[in-house]
Amino acid sequence: MRLRADRTLVRLEVFAVEDTSAQVCWASLPPGPVRLEAAGRAVEIETRPGPGSVVLDGLPAGERLTLQVSGAIDSGGAPLAERSFTTLPPPPGALLGRFAAITDLHIGDTKFGILPTRKESGPAEAHPQRSLRAALAEAVDWGAELVVAKGDLTRSGRARQFDGVAGLLGAAGVPVHVVLGNHDVGPRAADPTAAFERTGVHYDPQPSAVDLDGIRLVFGHSSVPGRTPGRIDAHQRARLAQLVGEAAGPAWLAMHHYPQPLPFRTTKPAGLRSQDADPLFEALRDANPNTMVTTGHSHRHRLHRRRGVLVAETGSTKDYPGTWTGYSVYEGAIRQVVRRIAEPSVLAWTERTRSTALGVWGPYAAGRFEDRCFTELWS
Ligand SMILES: [Fe+2]
Ligand SMILES: [Fe+2]
Repeated sequence: MRLRADRTLVRLEVFAVEDTSAQVCWASLPPGPVRLEAAGRAVEIETRPGPGSVVLDGLPAGERLTLQVSGAIDSGGAPLAERSFTTLPPPPGALLGRFAAITDLHIGDTKFGILPTRKESGPAEAHPQRSLRAALAEAVDWGAELVVAKGDLTRSGRARQFDGVAGLLGAAGVPVHVVLGNHDVGPRAADPTAAFERTGVHYDPQPSAVDLDGIRLVFGHSSVPGRTPGRIDAHQRARLAQLVGEAAGPAWLAMHHYPQPLPFRTTKPAGLRSQDADPLFEALRDANPNTMVTTGHSHRHRLHRRRGVLVAETGSTKDYPGTWTGYSVYEGAIRQVVRRIAEPSVLAWTERTRSTALGVWGPYAAGRFEDRCFTELWS
């Protein structure tokens, strides 16, 4: 197909896939009506200046497909762009349920990044609040029956920040479980227990678990008051191994800090030291080989294995790419999809944060496609 060169078409990409859906995002599309189509499924939109996003549903599973973007048919239908992508294969067994995870909400932040630092002036509601509100709405609309927030809920753990985040999380319309991050347990942090109790958010300072159909969710606490790096001591390690080991089936463990490969940090911010992480992941693997771990803290998307256990780091709601993560629980597998928060004012903000760190932040935080969207088969 002959494509029309158009400088107003910027960074069009298929950002996320599941078995039958794809999220398409762009920094800019030509003004006017635009049609996005793959495998005969089409969405027509009237573009507006700046970034945007659509979801194509009803796609064939496990197939290499071509996204075709063109001017709308009734306006001539000039082809504009093509992108290839592959939908995930259909998982084994029946779909048992869906839940979502978010992380690094940082309620109270007013800016992001260095070189350059991005600040916002304009919208009455600050970008961390808007990002969280939209992430919850979009995850619940997708089908999440429960949401887990993996820490750095606030900028610095002040009481008014906890009140703010508790109010937003409590209004999600589904049960919400939280763990704390290093920013929530800083030197002058408040105790958030009462704020979460008031709005019905589940917060337990001890390791805990909740059972869903087909999976046990386990909540670990890696944050140490007054310190950036994480720690899981032998006592908590044993308790977490017990909780995943007592699951009737697979287990999914959420904590704030990612495991470092070495005893010292090789990237910022420091995570869980390898001398803590290695015995933890060995204990989890031995207690329940069908366990996956998910973390935050790094504000990036990265998939790796530690001592044979799958580890999915996911990014912040409030800086590029600005995401929430959906989990579809099947009888024989779990599928992760990372979607960009599509609310226009959030996309406008997260696109601005992409170019921080001299332009390195964007690709670093987004990670590879396969870091974000995958199916893990249980043994
Ligand atoms: Fe954070
Ligand atoms: Fe953190």
